[in-house]
Amino acid sequence: MTQTQFTPRVFSGIKPSGGLTLGNYLGAIKRFVGMQGQMECVYCVVDLHAITVWQDPRELANMTREVAAGYLAAGLDPTQSILFNQSQVSAHAELGWIFNCVARVGWMNRMTQFKDKAGANAEKQSLGLYAYPSLMAADILLYHATHVPVGDDQKQHVELTRDIAAKFNHDFGVDFFPLTTPVIEGPAMRIMNLRDGTKKMSKSGDSDMERINMTDDADKIAKKFKKAKTDPEPLPDTLDGLKDRPEARNLIDIYAALNDATAEATIAEYAGAGWGKFKPALADLAVAKLAPIADEMARLMADPAEIDRILGAGSEKAREIADPILRQTYDIVGMLRS
Ligand code: AMP
Ligand code: TRP
Repeated sequence: MTQTQFTPRVFSGIKPSGGLTLGNYLGAIKRFVGMQGQMECVYCVVDLHAITVWQDPRELANMTREVAAGYLAAGLDPTQSILFNQSQVSAHAELGWIFNCVARVGWMNRMTQFKDKAGANAEKQSLGLYAYPSLMAADILLYHATHVPVGDDQKQHVELTRDIAAKFNHDFGVDFFPLTTPVIEGPAMRIMNLRDGTKKMSKSGDSDMERINMTDDADKIAKKFKKAKTDPEPLPDTLDGLKDRPEARNLIDIYAALNDATAEATIAEYAGAGWGKFKPALADLAVAKLAPIADEMARLMADPAEIDRILGAGSEKAREIADPILRQTYDIVGMLRS
């Protein structure tokens, strides 16, 4: 069956499971802001996803506000885009259940993020962590989203979303859910840990020196880049020369993404430079770009009631799109409503 043309719409989300990192900013938030105005955008703080691993209830609401503050401080305009937190729109959990009944156990068993997170302890993980990708599919398809900007680590989950949409459409003989396109492009698809260039920079690494937080001040940013692991070689003149130098490649990618440039142009600009020249330039650039955002986040966090108001208003707008799609889904599946 050929697909209906769905109206272009963007959906993406970030978990409030710890402080936002430079990986979240460059791989997600900065790109979300860039898509604003090009299509209708729906951006979510996915608190239901966060509790797939333990979250302290006293912290969770505040982390939810902090992620919202990160979106807003980076330039997301809540009058242009929809910004809300997932648990305020109950349709996410409802469609998530239906998709649990569409997705196959064999599909879930192939999800590499679950394997990485669960490690040898799979039996002790929550059932939610295992089912997580089908809730993510619900987040996306509840808005009939056609485009999902994410970092490289989420590619497999967006592909699973397409599989779920295709199976639902096929099983019920409808053309109801779009086959969503992951939008994964630019130099920042996978920002790596500053102490080990083979690991992703994440919210929950062991040492704070591994990552730049969006709330770090200028001194911290400079110190972390100064201490970032590198190698003794100067920078080569093409990207080929960085093939087996993951830490060096990562710093070039970070510089390029912060500077709205390509990695190719960045390496050409710094060809032959040593770390004594490149690292301070990177730290200055990062401070210039991130410090104003950190200041704005602190200003927003001083007024939590205003953040809550924005998320509440966004949830209302989100429900206007989501509720009719959920109702139609129930009709297709044959749920009786009186
Ligand atoms: P999470 O923090 O896991 O909720 O991720 C939210 C978004 O940020 C997703 O689109 C991720 O792909 C993206 N992201 C997280 N860490 C990184 C990273 N180190 N590099 C690039 N993108 C990232
Ligand atoms: N799973 C994503 C992550 O860990 C977060 C997420 C949840 C998401 N729902 C989504 C991303 C829908 C994009 C679209 O990073």
